[in-house]
Amino acid sequence: MSELTVIVLAAGGGTRMKSKTPKMLHQIAGRSLVGHVLAAVSEAGASRVVAVVGHQRELVEPHIAEILPEAVIAVQEEQLGTGHAVRMAVEAASVAGGTVVVTYGDTPLLRGESLRALVAEHEAAGRAATILSGIVPEPFGYGRILRASGGPSGGVSGIVEEKDATDEQRAITEINSGIIAFDGSFLAGVLPRIGNDNAKKEFYLTDAIALAVADGLGVDAYVLDDVTEAEGANDRAQLAALGKILNERIVTRWMKDGVTVMDPATTWIDADVELAPDVTILPGTQLIGATRIDEDAVVGPDCTLKDTEIGHGARVVRTQAELAVVGPGANVGPFSYLRPGTVLGDEGKIGGFVEVKNSTIGAGAKVPHLSYVGDATIGEGTNIGAGTIFANYDGVNKHRTTIGRHVKSGSGVTFVAPVVVGDGAATGGESLIREDVPPGALAVSAGQQRNIEGWTLKKRAGTPQAAAAEEALEAGVPVLGEPVATGE
Ligand code: UD1
Ligand code: CA
Repeated sequence: MSELTVIVLAAGGGTRMKSKTPKMLHQIAGRSLVGHVLAAVSEAGASRVVAVVGHQRELVEPHIAEILPEAVIAVQEEQLGTGHAVRMAVEAASVAGGTVVVTYGDTPLLRGESLRALVAEHEAAGRAATILSGIVPEPFGYGRILRASGGPSGGVSGIVEEKDATDEQRAITEINSGIIAFDGSFLAGVLPRIGNDNAKKEFYLTDAIALAVADGLGVDAYVLDDVTEAEGANDRAQLAALGKILNERIVTRWMKDGVTVMDPATTWIDADVELAPDVTILPGTQLIGATRIDEDAVVGPDCTLKDTEIGHGARVVRTQAELAVVGPGANVGPFSYLRPGTVLGDEGKIGGFVEVKNSTIGAGAKVPHLSYVGDATIGEGTNIGAGTIFANYDGVNKHRTTIGRHVKSGSGVTFVAPVVVGDGAATGGESLIREDVPPGALAVSAGQQRNIEGWTLKKRAGTPQAAAAEEALEAGVPVLGEPVATGE
């Protein structure tokens, strides 16, 4: 294989997106459109990548540089056409030889293997140019492949753009995907020969094909099996459609790798997610960013996990999590909210209506019900009672709470940080824990219960509450239940 340069055209605008964000930077499956193209290009084994930027380049250029720092950036000040854009790239990178593939920055479904197959065929045949073409039922808007015999087996003689085509040419269903492999020295020589005497007054890269034929050089088209690979997203509806296709591709790939997905249609998995074999994903689940799920874990239904790690055999139900770590065999949900910095140990539990932030919960420790755990460390085997609040914020600063191992904490406790509870300690229900608790101690702060007799009748006179109290008192009910027998 000769040296492979890939040019990514990303200078055009995206007016139909109606967005302040450049088209190429819109995302599907957790990556920008151009990010998907750059991934395919890297997979294809490009030794050099040249990105042509123009429209909103103050946003596009740094984005490309972040994904692929070694990419050469070529600036196209005015969008004078694909031929002009490629010329900017060839000049910026001093391309003079090898193989050069032109791609677009807005075709996120392009596969690295398709680029590789195109390059292999192009090089084996020793042509000046090989067009990646496709057969589509509705070719409107695309450049059409012209063949000598008129049919798909005849030799390629050129590409005609939609606006320049005759009615007869518009009936051709073989289209230019836009991706074309060139011999580098032919390309460098032909670009200055391309003019703009056409319907759009643009420099068409596609004119290079007829020029090669006129020079007696070899050109041909390599027909793509799956034309969606070359589809661009021009508006938000197309963006969603491509996103769905890409998601299907990702979900199918994971199923082939041994992941059970009960409902692929409602399961959304980003490109960078990693799943182990025998993971089960239940309906309505979104796996976002760098989320990783280990073997035998069951996630869903209805979970959104972003940049989250789920351990071997863990069970996560109806949960929202971000930058969280759930240990092997742990249990989360339903209706749990794991905010950044949540780390749940092996076999631990975070239950229903529990919010956790920036906290480490030890192995086997449990926060089963209706609690807020913020900025805390909870030791192994500790049980936090229902309705517990870790009051971490004094209005100015956040403070930590540290709870030791095998602590039993009653329900309705408020830990006012900073505070430390020693190993094996206990806290009584409804306690307000402001002072450190030594190991093994029981801390109680809720006072003795006092019953103020007749309070309701005095303070809530005229209410159903008062009426109920009055009836019970008149009937001689002691606390709750039947009247006490008087012995008559
Ligand atoms: C182009 C092809 C057409 C093909 C179609 C496939 C030409 C002349 N036409 O048409 O044969 O069927 O793509 O989608 O090549 N760009 C620049 N600078 C420019 C112009 C375009 O960077 O000056 C970039 C755009 O950002 C875009 C790509 O090149 O990524 C294609 O440009 P576009 O204007 O969409 O070309 P089409 O008219 O669709
Ligand atoms: Ca286009």
